[in-house]
Amino acid sequence: MIPIAKPTIGEEEVGAVSEIIKSGNMASGKQVKKFEEEFAEYSEVKESIATVNGTVSLDLALKALNIKPDDEVILPDFSFIATANCVLFQNAKPVFADVDKKTFNIDAEDIKKKITPNTKAIIGVHLFGQPFEIEKIKEICKNNDLYLIEDCAQAHGAEYKNKKVGSFGDIGCFSLYATKNMTSGEGGILTTNNKVLGGKLRLLINHGQTEKYLHSELGYNYRMTNIQAGLGLCQLKKLDDFNKKRIDNACYLSENIKVSGLTLPYIKRNIKHVFHQYVVRIEDNFCMNRVEFIKYLNENGIGCAIHYPLPISKQPIYQKLGYSPQDCPVAAEVAEKVLSLPVHPSLIKEDLKHIVKTINKL
Ligand SMILES: Cc1ncc(COP(=O)(O)O)c(C=O)c1O
Repeated sequence: MIPIAKPTIGEEEVGAVSEIIKSGNMASGKQVKKFEEEFAEYSEVKESIATVNGTVSLDLALKALNIKPDDEVILPDFSFIATANCVLFQNAKPVFADVDKKTFNIDAEDIKKKITPNTKAIIGVHLFGQPFEIEKIKEICKNNDLYLIEDCAQAHGAEYKNKKVGSFGDIGCFSLYATKNMTSGEGGILTTNNKVLGGKLRLLINHGQTEKYLHSELGYNYRMTNIQAGLGLCQLKKLDDFNKKRIDNACYLSENIKVSGLTLPYIKRNIKHVFHQYVVRIEDNFCMNRVEFIKYLNENGIGCAIHYPLPISKQPIYQKLGYSPQDCPVAAEVAEKVLSLPVHPSLIKEDLKHIVKTINKL
């Protein structure tokens, strides 16, 4: 089976991790500091703070920005659930904005309709590796005095007008989960150009400790380990190559899949899409429905996945909270039609040819 996702790990990663384990310095230390510095440099930001995962990074971003109970935070209805849950962790209110039919990214016009006097922040997600409309949304934030958080969990190395994602908002939040564009096994990293916010985040990940055993505020232990950072440093060096392979694979699929009723990924101008996922839309005139198509692909040795089968507002937990999916009709429609095909950097030419041939037979 051609897997839908596969971490690309080489001898360098194995060597780096085993050396760190042998050294005995496994907790947060030298490697974490180096990883933070190199990630900040790569992301063109003043500071990076390594954490234990992307979910925690989003939670910390809202805490550092002082989001309080009853504040409202606008975010896309079509994303991984962590994007919304981080708002609930503050006892604040997630407000869902609809998404664009072609890019699946948050719709700036719908954001404007959802702003109230309680709105404090917007979380934009660079979904599937494609940057959202950063300029328009930054403008909305400026005009309404709102914070901007970039959820970059799926977009390491993606660019908007030649500038890296994670460098536009008040805080950027990355996941380093095993199947992301780069990984540290599990892990996360925050980016910011605001040194004060950077300082707050650093306190939050380390028990609010200002000096050894002096704790000035409430904090957690969300520190990355040297083992994760050692892996992350090797992956960061390879990130541009990984992304190039993803982009080449996506180009090959888009140039060669020729079948009616499948809408292939749409790429906006002036951005670098890093294809965390290659997501097609199965239209009503396609020769089979989504369940049948998945079965057909699987029977032919091709893994695929639905990202995501439900808009967040339709998830049971949000239904219990009284959310109505009618508020975001495009997200609801998109969730019924999307399917992700393999695009990861470990694919070989034969895999890509097989995917194209199998689909074009239909
Ligand atoms: C858009 C988005 N946000 C947040 C997260 C959470 O990251 P993590 O799994 O590292 O907690 C993910 C992970 O898949 C994600 O895709």
